[in-house]
Amino acid sequence: MNAVVFYSNTGQSKAIATYFANQLGYPLVDIETKCAEHYRNLVLVFPVHCQNIPDIVKHFLKNVSVENLTAIATYGKMCCGNVLYEIQKNYQKNIVAGAYIPTKHSCIDNDDVFCDFDKLKHIVEKVKEPSYIQIPKLYKNPLADVFPKLRSKLGLTIQKNADCSGCNLCAERCSFGAIKSGKTNSNCIRCLRCVEACPHQALKIKLGLPLKVYLRKKKTQEVIIYT
Ligand SMILES: Cc1cc2nc3c(=O)[nH]c(=O)nc-3n(C[C@H](O)[C@H](O)[C@H](O)COP(=O)(O)O)c2cc1C
Repeated sequence: MNAVVFYSNTGQSKAIATYFANQLGYPLVDIETKCAEHYRNLVLVFPVHCQNIPDIVKHFLKNVSVENLTAIATYGKMCCGNVLYEIQKNYQKNIVAGAYIPTKHSCIDNDDVFCDFDKLKHIVEKVKEPSYIQIPKLYKNPLADVFPKLRSKLGLTIQKNADCSGCNLCAERCSFGAIKSGKTNSNCIRCLRCVEACPHQALKIKLGLPLKVYLRKKKTQEVIIYT
């Protein structure tokens, strides 16, 4: 079977996955629903988290067999790490295309979303006429692999304000049982899905100083495509 499978918390990866699903006529499948174990052509779209592949995507890749994989990583214009190379090295050799796509950073309010969809046409063509490629290794900060989850925890906190109506939609949307009535617990990976989901904008993020300084760094707008 063919599909576009996506993992997305704040909608950026989902928007790109939707583009591919529409262009290719493939079903659009949320990685958190029951996915197939085998795909002929699979387009996988997910965000870079702390320069790494999110755990849920690693788990999916470990349990799936794919004849032709197209792997698309969205990132918040800071650093995309080396996630596509890591996918090919550790999980799926059969990559036919890949891309790193700069999008709105989940932690930056007024950041620009990706809209240069014309740039992705080559990928659509390559999915239709697949042949295997080698993903090159990019520079990745060696510190990126040092306690990435802990760094994300220390980097920001999610705080509830007086606008909370107690509807608990945040808890319903959370994949990890990490929030209840607007209060996060130790399962929280700071994916910010709850912040996005709150209908009253009652959840706000508070950045720690190191992350605040880091996010002021020069951003990259580079779309990197491998076909
Ligand atoms: C926990 C977390 C870690 C992130 N780490 C990075 C990163 O290392 N480099 C980067 O450029 N963007 C990073 N981002 C930004 C996301 O990769 C980016 O906003 C992505 O497009 C969000 O996709 P989504 O809306 O589909 O979840 C991070 C976002 C979160 C929530």
